[in-house]
Amino acid sequence: MNQDNATLIEALETQRTHHSHNTSVSHKSDYGQYFTPSAVALFMASMFPAVYETDVKLLDPGAGIGSLSCAFVLNMNQRVQGVNYEIDCYETDHHVLAKLTKNLYELSSINRVKYTVLFEDFIEAAVDSLLQFNKPLYTHVIMNPPYKKIHSSSNCRKQLRSVDLEIVNLYSAFVSMSLELLKKDGYLVAIIPRSFCNGTYYLPFRKHVLSNAVIRRIHLFESRNSIFKNDSVLQENIIILLQKNDLVKQVEVSYSKDQVLESIKTIQVEYSRIVDLTSWELIINIPQENGSTNSVVTSDYRQIGCMVSTGPVVDFRNTEFISSEVPGKEIPLIYPQNICSFMVHWPSPTGLQKSIEINTNTQKMMYKNGYYVIVRRFSSKEEKRRIVAALYKPEDNSTEYIAFENHLNVFHNNGQGLEPDVAYGLVAYLNSEGFDEEFRVFSGHTQVNVSDLKRMKYPTLEQLKKLGRTLQSENFSYKVFEDIITEVLNHESR
Ligand SMILES: C[S@@+](CC[C@H](N)C(=O)[O-])C[C@H]1O[C@@H](n2cnc3c(N)ncnc32)[C@H](O)[C@@H]1O
Repeated sequence: MNQDNATLIEALETQRTHHSHNTSVSHKSDYGQYFTPSAVALFMASMFPAVYETDVKLLDPGAGIGSLSCAFVLNMNQRVQGVNYEIDCYETDHHVLAKLTKNLYELSSINRVKYTVLFEDFIEAAVDSLLQFNKPLYTHVIMNPPYKKIHSSSNCRKQLRSVDLEIVNLYSAFVSMSLELLKKDGYLVAIIPRSFCNGTYYLPFRKHVLSNAVIRRIHLFESRNSIFKNDSVLQENIIILLQKNDLVKQVEVSYSKDQVLESIKTIQVEYSRIVDLTSWELIINIPQENGSTNSVVTSDYRQIGCMVSTGPVVDFRNTEFISSEVPGKEIPLIYPQNICSFMVHWPSPTGLQKSIEINTNTQKMMYKNGYYVIVRRFSSKEEKRRIVAALYKPEDNSTEYIAFENHLNVFHNNGQGLEPDVAYGLVAYLNSEGFDEEFRVFSGHTQVNVSDLKRMKYPTLEQLKKLGRTLQSENFSYKVFEDIITEVLNHESR
């Protein structure tokens, strides 16, 4: 970067920190105004592939003081010479217009840049363009859009509906509308909250994005909330590179500790691991940096011969049949409290021993005595692990049946027990760090639902059995689970 450009970047950083310290929280929140640190802006710019065209038309919607436009040009100029840039910056806060204009003027005086500052609501302008079929077609979009809810009765929501978009948040509206204005094969880089990756709330947005573009790269910050910490933005953010076409390739996933952006690690991931385009939920599944099992784990729960169901006995609806009797006409009823050290203990170490009578009312809620793997449905936020799985072994009981209470999920084989090797293997896999992290990627709450467990990927049946055989001669512990998973799964993937 030449001296003038370096000076411009320094000036932008000074203006950003000044703005952050001297602007009221209510003003920032009214405008969704959190400016991008220069290091992050330059990093975002570096995510675009080098341009091959001589004329670049860049859109910067919600431009603030222009940090992203400046970073884009400065970064691209270091890689490619002789490019002409035409930039449109939209901004609605008149307090920042003077700085935005001055910074763009500086940029244009040292680079081949023409710019237009549009003191307009970007959503309104973009909807108008679409309705009038006179879309300006941009080759590139760079954005850190405002984060704000769009109320269902607001004008903005009505405008978006007029172009068939049911979108709930300004940031997603900015991305969708920009994609509409992007040329075929054009690129968009955005820093946005990770929350859109799952959940029905953002499903229309994911549908729109994934039917108009493909994900080329995702960058993840290891430490949450670090990027806009001066502005007290408590969001986990990602940077995403989209390309407006439908050529599905591998996705580059990169990780850095924080906004210092040192020692970035990068992996290539199959597109189908990031998003299953045939699923109705279109969850965007971003592997964790140390999710080392991701690349080798591809089976559906049905392919490993398992079913997973919620424990059928709701105790308050069956109080008349539940007692503390020892097995006879009664069979053991397993509660989460019966889990200890990854095994089911009946009675529990604290003495919990509930049983349920077998009769015509309760028979349908019972499982044949056999090997089962149970998973707790509820955990507290403070707990380290979301997934707590335990093995139930038939030899601990002489009864013909066994019952599971409703606060548990049960892995079974069509109402029957699992093969012992599969059950042991599942206990190791479900309790692994990789599974827990992968699970958290799309489950924002502390509940573990059957539907979430069904959505997860599992090792192949052979791999599970191998895990199970290895585990049978060991004492259960997190360390043992990790060791055998590394040995069986990671060894095979090499
Ligand atoms: C999160 S800030 C980012 C600013 C700048 N792009 C950056 O990265 O530093 C979003 C900007 O969008 C502006 N903004 C909010 N709503 C807008 C709208 N409807 N149209 C255009 N700009 C808007 C805000 O005033 C704010 O400056």
